[in-house]
Amino acid sequence: MQLRVVSDQPWDVPADVLVVPFLGEPDFGGPLGEIDRRSGGELRALASFGELRSKRYSTALAAAGELPAGRLLTVAAGEPATLDRETVVRVAAAAERRLGGRAVKRLAVWLTPLGGVDGGLETAAMLVARGIEEGSYEPQSIYRATVEAAPPILDELVLVAEGADVGALTRAATRGLTIGEGANLARTLSNRASNDVSPEVLADEARVIAERHGLWIDVIEPDRATELGMGMFMAVGRGSSNQPRMIVMRSGDEGERDALDRHLAIVGKGVCFDSGGISIKPSDRMEEMKMDKTGACTVIAAIDTVARLAPGTPLLAVAPAVENMPGPHATRPGDIVTALNGKKVDITNTDAEGRLILGDAMTYAERLGATHVVDVATLTGAVGRALGHLVTGAFGTPQPFYDEVAAAGAAAGERYWQLPLVEDYVPDMESWYGDLQNSGSAEGSLVRSGLFLREFVTKPWVHLDIAGTAYYRKATPFAPRGATGVSHATLVELALSGTRAG
Ligand code: BES
Ligand code: MN
Ligand code: ZN
Repeated sequence: MQLRVVSDQPWDVPADVLVVPFLGEPDFGGPLGEIDRRSGGELRALASFGELRSKRYSTALAAAGELPAGRLLTVAAGEPATLDRETVVRVAAAAERRLGGRAVKRLAVWLTPLGGVDGGLETAAMLVARGIEEGSYEPQSIYRATVEAAPPILDELVLVAEGADVGALTRAATRGLTIGEGANLARTLSNRASNDVSPEVLADEARVIAERHGLWIDVIEPDRATELGMGMFMAVGRGSSNQPRMIVMRSGDEGERDALDRHLAIVGKGVCFDSGGISIKPSDRMEEMKMDKTGACTVIAAIDTVARLAPGTPLLAVAPAVENMPGPHATRPGDIVTALNGKKVDITNTDAEGRLILGDAMTYAERLGATHVVDVATLTGAVGRALGHLVTGAFGTPQPFYDEVAAAGAAAGERYWQLPLVEDYVPDMESWYGDLQNSGSAEGSLVRSGLFLREFVTKPWVHLDIAGTAYYRKATPFAPRGATGVSHATLVELALSGTRAG
């Protein structure tokens, strides 16, 4: 898809469809009135007919009259006071999705109404390009040759902002497009089935990405993981005949610090299928557990995106990839294993496997010189019950590093809610036989999931629990069912904040 920014008036831009976002109720007193006049009064007519609704992400297709665009597509962006970065991405994605199955090759989007977002028009250009790209994502095309009413594949996206700085907006939009492509890569890896993406296949995908950008990659196979002492990682991986892989990728040099004096590590949970192991899950919705590798897919895609946008940025990505299965060699509840950091862990529930593989992965990241660690994981059902599918739960310590990650989240237009690491609950993790157990009562289990992970990091650390936000069970106006790509943009912004500071 070609990107073009033009500083013309929206009514002068030829395209198959011109997207017209509006805030609040449509105001025909301003430039929207001019668009309406040139369309022959179509927009006003639709508004009085009740078709042009102001509910956020509502859309209406209109004839374009004498405008050079073939058709108009209005998109409601909600109340002006609530216009934030997330909304801008989703307005664009909703427009692209609304055109599913339509003959659109050249799409124009009028940016100006979204220029009130923090960061202004440049940020709007970045987020709209990203939103159009993310909105074009169609998971059904992974395994099917033809998909009914798929979002259109565009030849050209034209961003329209009268009087704008074309160069600056073009750079911003290009950045947004690349971030959107990265999110879509994460989504495809995540949406692919477990009989397609085993730990070994995920490692192969990582190798392809590493070779493309000259990234350093090390894939640790089971024998070496055992030798290194990754007892928690192997305890999960051993239950499947599809053997585990610890995937380690790096851009920049070993231990190299970025402009914020960080050697940042992003660590993603890569459970290619989570049956629960011997503590097997009920079959209801078990098929969703192919998505339990989403954290790993996200960090692999994020290092790819960072390598595209700012080659050489110091960044470490670690993706422990396993299948949690009840095979003949599977870990039994009550088994005691030694973690890479030496702690003796009592595995009371084999379904609390994410924290086991992440613990060893984070210890390993620190051994490779990580000074700051962010992990991303579909870790608990509890976070989805608490926060739903639109807000990611997060833990972190010390607070200034949490705030740094939260700022990257705000820049990315992604929502997080900080959860507390309640010190008084630490004793609830005690084990009779070992140093700690991986599971316990339901009460406080979400907090304990964070406390457990904390046992395996010594550096500033943030944990993002995307179990509620990683995938949608049904389509929304702005995204199809399946993987959402959540937190990819946050990780990219966080890593890139270390290039800009220098
Ligand atoms: N992968 C699951 C968490 C999950 C649940 C992700 C639903 C997405 C949707 C995780 O490994 C798990 O099984 N967690 C258990 C932990 C419990 C055994 C302490 C849970 O949340 O029930
Ligand atoms: Mn589990
Ligand atoms: Zn899991």
